[in-house]
Amino acid sequence: TADTPLAGRHVLVTAGPTHEPIDPVRYIANRSSGKQGFAIAAAAARAGARVTLVAGPVHLPTPAGVRRVDVETAREMLAAVEAALPADAAIMVAAVADWRAADAADQKLKKDGSGKPAPLPLVENPDILATLGKHAKRPALLVGFAAETQKVAEHAQAKLARKGADWIVANDVSGDVMGGDSNSVHIVSRDGVESWENLPKDAVATRLIEKVADALSARPD
Ligand code: C5P
Repeated sequence: TADTPLAGRHVLVTAGPTHEPIDPVRYIANRSSGKQGFAIAAAAARAGARVTLVAGPVHLPTPAGVRRVDVETAREMLAAVEAALPADAAIMVAAVADWRAADAADQKLKKDGSGKPAPLPLVENPDILATLGKHAKRPALLVGFAAETQKVAEHAQAKLARKGADWIVANDVSGDVMGGDSNSVHIVSRDGVESWENLPKDAVATRLIEKVADALSARPD
């Protein structure tokens, strides 16, 4: 119906940062409040979708009608995302840490008195969006996010191709978007770039979900 254009659809959303342990008390992470991803999950549920929200560590309440799976690390996030398939649309909003410590220590790392910091070898994390982009159960509509500080649309076009996504929602984070309540986004697809005015994150979510519903109804399964 007009109110619930996503009725019968499964929408998968990732949100928040991931935390990659260094030792029991320290971790590597990106800055992410989770607000935009949670707003998108809430909007999808309001539009009638069955929603799975895979959330990294954030301090936010679970939106009404949303099934939430909490994870810590990128590898846990990937496993939860794959376990949630199939989905009609996947919207990957999480700020996944690109690297993790090669060997997380079991005990707290101590200063050894030499004045030299302990070495911290890193290894690359799986790219969840790119994994979905070539997955046997690839969602019909795959949407990534990209936080950029310059050449926003150009970098997003490259990311679209590299990750096998349908749209990249690019936002310019050179301002104070992080943790804030509004966002300026550009929706980059093979068809070009659609730039939206600065909007509250809730409004970005509502509009994005309308666009998702339109795209899915254009290709019924
Ligand atoms: O390459 P970059 O991190 O800027 O790409 C951002 C997009 O890729 C986001 O949609 C993010 O959720 C996703 N991503 C991912 N797994 C990673 C890194 C990024 O799914 N390891």
